[in-house]
Amino acid sequence: MTFVVTENCIRCKYTDCVDVCPVDCFHEGPNFLVIDPDECIDCTLCEPECPAHAIYSEDELPEGQEQFIQLNAELSKIWPTISEVKEALPDADEWNGKPGKLQYLER
Ligand code: SF4
Ligand code: F3S
Repeated sequence: MTFVVTENCIRCKYTDCVDVCPVDCFHEGPNFLVIDPDECIDCTLCEPECPAHAIYSEDELPEGQEQFIQLNAELSKIWPTISEVKEALPDADEWNGKPGKLQYLER
């Protein structure tokens, strides 16, 4: 099992999740973070830390977010590791909770 970053992280990228991960399994793209499913130890620490409530266990994903299992697996192999918190994206609070953000995912 693994935890998965879902759509509401896009264009927010608060990075609070990174601070608590004991195994540095977050990877960073331009406007989204993903979790490497091969590194995640299911410790659950990151889930409550995300201000955008974007992190879920893969077996508790909200409806419509299933494709993010594959996206996390795929992009975590390409994007670099992020292990320190940084500033959220400038318009993070405006984008938090907006539907249909997958179209804005930058690779
Ligand atoms: Fe890291 Fe734990 Fe979150 Fe997995 S569940 S991404 S190991 S903090
Ligand atoms: Fe994204 Fe939430 Fe982490 S918005 S960067 S999953 S704290």
